[in-house]
Amino acid sequence: MRNQRVGFLLGLIFAVGLVVQCNGGVTSTYRRRLEASGDMPLDADVFWVPSGYNAPQQVHITQGDYDGTAVIVSWVTADVPGSSTVKYWKFCSNLNHSAEGDVRQYKFYNYTSGYIHHCVLNNLEPDTTYYYAIGENDAGRKFSFKIPPALGPDVPYTFGLIGDLGQTYDSNITLTHYKANKDAAALLYVGDFSYADNYPNHDNVRWDTWGRFIETSAAYQPWIWTVGNHEIDFVPEIGETTPFKPVRNRYPTPYEASGSTEPYFYSIRRASAHIIVLASYSAYGKYTPQYQWLQKELTKVNRTVTPWLIVLLHSPWYNSYNYHYMEGETMRVQFEAWMVQYKVDVVFAGHVHAYERSHRISNIDYNITNAKCSPVPNNNAPVYITIGDGGNIEGLATNMTEPQPNYSVFREASFGHAIFDIKNRTHAYYTWHRNQDGDAVTADSMWFTNRYFNPTNDS
Ligand SMILES: [Fe+2]
Repeated sequence: MRNQRVGFLLGLIFAVGLVVQCNGGVTSTYRRRLEASGDMPLDADVFWVPSGYNAPQQVHITQGDYDGTAVIVSWVTADVPGSSTVKYWKFCSNLNHSAEGDVRQYKFYNYTSGYIHHCVLNNLEPDTTYYYAIGENDAGRKFSFKIPPALGPDVPYTFGLIGDLGQTYDSNITLTHYKANKDAAALLYVGDFSYADNYPNHDNVRWDTWGRFIETSAAYQPWIWTVGNHEIDFVPEIGETTPFKPVRNRYPTPYEASGSTEPYFYSIRRASAHIIVLASYSAYGKYTPQYQWLQKELTKVNRTVTPWLIVLLHSPWYNSYNYHYMEGETMRVQFEAWMVQYKVDVVFAGHVHAYERSHRISNIDYNITNAKCSPVPNNNAPVYITIGDGGNIEGLATNMTEPQPNYSVFREASFGHAIFDIKNRTHAYYTWHRNQDGDAVTADSMWFTNRYFNPTNDS
């Protein structure tokens, strides 16, 4: 009898094991339309050019230092250089400040850019709303932003997430939905901006329309930039051999503040988060500048000050769609062990035009002779989220590898955006919002527990 019971129990354990092993997560079939929508026409209302002679346009801000008390204000004037001055003041204060920026132009084949201004506002007060004014005479424009609270382990802060946005009708839905979320205070952007490179000679007019398109959000809250392949703009056949020329001129990052030597890999600290931005299209092999910088940067992370360690990159390391399959593999091989060693909470990527979330897994034991090359559950590993579903001109990635890998919790080919809502040092609530639903509807969600302060099995 006892042997029968033991046998039954062993059988049950084996059966449950099979169910767990075979459970590759959920592949959602929810989607409304698979055709890519075209880019909005040049005269679309969202590409509105502000009135007035030489009026500032394409206004956007990003974090300007390591800890979030500086802001870089950027804009374009079309007719003449004009002023690079930013006037700014605190909410309910008569004390005006001003800062002087610089202005530049660039040429790309037969295109000449407008006058691109960048101005850094330094030493701003934490947890404070500022107004800022740019432009001259009757063409002046005013905007505002809020500096985050001072760094601290329990500072609540809400980040938005968008990737691969482009400028189609679907892109417009994504951005409109994102803006409807009033709690999101800064956007983590995981690469592929305008998709101007889909046009003949990479028509940079589409960089201008994209700048006007995102202004309604990016002029009021910082967008933290990660570069993607659509920012490379390497076109030797038309003589354009300097990679990243448009993005480098238009969208600055505070890379020097974190000791980086390239604008495309850097890190910032904001509220209770330490955010590391990696460059999928800069060298990352051993001894390269990015490798050396990341090795050093990870030792600077102080989880008692910023408990949430977030990594952004463009080409995903874990991707079970057939699109861009394995493109992120070499970077994963190079850096994944560090993600586990330093207990990164989450890695966000774009590139694949769909959505996917993983369990906490790692694949770091392989040494070319031991055959240990399958991802395994690892409570010290990050969750990997692909959110390249902003809605660009190339359409959705719909073909998936089958069966769904065990490590993939949820995947769906729909456009959308996400919110990472940090509550305190132990918990953050993550939600993904598909475009077809109302703003408040979540199609995927997860309570994150912090890997440093509360490393429960949360995935
Ligand atoms: Fe991409």
